Amino acid sequence: MTPTPIPPPSEAPSPTTVNSLLAAIADVGADPRRGGYSRPVWSDAERELRSWFLAEAAARGLETTTDANGVLWAWWDLPAARRGGSLEASRADAVVTGSHLDSVPGGGAFDGPLGVASALAALDQLVAREAAGALHRQRALALAVFPEEEGSRFGVACLGSRLLSGAIDPERALALTDAEGITLGEAAERNGLDPRRMGPDPAALQSIGRFVELHVEQGRGLDGPEHSGPGSAGPALAVGSTVLGHGRWRLSFRGQGNHAGTTLMQDRADPMVAAAETVLAVRRLAAARPDARATVGRISPIPGGTNVIASRVDLWMDVRHAEDEVTAALVAEIADSARAHAAAEGCTGELVEESLSGTVHFDPQLAATLSGAVRRTAPAAPLLATGAGHDAGVLAARVPTGMIHVRNPTGISHAPEEHVEDDDAAAGVLALADALEELL
Ligand code: GLV
Ligand code: MN
Ligand code: MN
Ligand code: MN
Repeated sequence: MTPTPIPPPSEAPSPTTVNSLLAAIADVGADPRRGGYSRPVWSDAERELRSWFLAEAAARGLETTTDANGVLWAWWDLPAARRGGSLEASRADAVVTGSHLDSVPGGGAFDGPLGVASALAALDQLVAREAAGALHRQRALALAVFPEEEGSRFGVACLGSRLLSGAIDPERALALTDAEGITLGEAAERNGLDPRRMGPDPAALQSIGRFVELHVEQGRGLDGPEHSGPGSAGPALAVGSTVLGHGRWRLSFRGQGNHAGTTLMQDRADPMVAAAETVLAVRRLAAARPDARATVGRISPIPGGTNVIASRVDLWMDVRHAEDEVTAALVAEIADSARAHAAAEGCTGELVEESLSGTVHFDPQLAATLSGAVRRTAPAAPLLATGAGHDAGVLAARVPTGMIHVRNPTGISHAPEEHVEDDDAAAGVLALADALEELL
């Protein structure tokens, strides 16, 4: 008989780690077909993650709310406010930290959830510091979870923070559709929101005195050739400096749908060929501009049959550069090239901008505060620009905002291989707690 293990005598709960938090959601939205996770906003998986977050917050005694745009909030109020002071007044100018729980199709485990789990774990450390008399706060802390950060369902990234901060016209946002033709407004209503109330939320915005987002580093920023000699990775953490300007465009090619067997090669007006030539042009034109990035990651032939020459092909393009004029010039070049390839094939080509965000420079004062706190844990933590978009980048236009990036040893993100070592995640939590402590 195997002996039953005797539980340890300690009453003390084991400290929350990012690991233990993420372990609890490790199966949610796992995608065996693509690998990794597919957690589009308001899918069963993402809703389960939202419930998980609300339950974790409630278990910590935090009051949770869902705002008009579907952003989740969990409040660690000032003790005095709870004892009968004005809760509302105490929630203005709060320190806010958080991230998102939705994912790209087949994404990694950390993009988004790392920031949410780290926020919960950092809160636990701050609660313990306050209980020990080592923290005397002036401000409330809120943890926030933003919906549709990836734009993987409705096509525009950071929709929650864009709506809340007024960075997108709500009418336009509500009309965005997913692959099934469901509008954002319909999906929001099915998920308990009132579409008529969605849009700029001055009260929510005013409550954000400072916003700090911890995020997995998504390229080789902390593990690139300049850092990695044999056995020497870069520092575990970095502080965000900028977010590259980026945008998304739809390119639509229209030709003549026809029979694959009866249509002679010289008789075709095949939009798939124009699209294919354009994909190659995107690569070539972007490569000719130092530090530009341009990607076609999604393509949709209509009607989409093996023995059918398509009548229309849509492709979606993502372009990024630190200088907004370069992005604009590159997109213009690509548009010219697409039209030329369309004409050569007897097709038409059209380019529609779906979203565009300029390069963001995070608040230098907040970056300096974050650097001071982060360097206590990771002395060599650099200031780091990121090519990835974030809700922090959207909010930066309205409130002082900063980011902490955690090393990703694979240098891969938006794919299952994205990774964070346990020790680095723990360093991130400690640095986040120290940074929040200074801001509170
Ligand atoms: C989202 O993560 C993006 O950078 O597109
Ligand atoms: Mn993210
Ligand atoms: Mn992402
Ligand atoms: Mn992102």
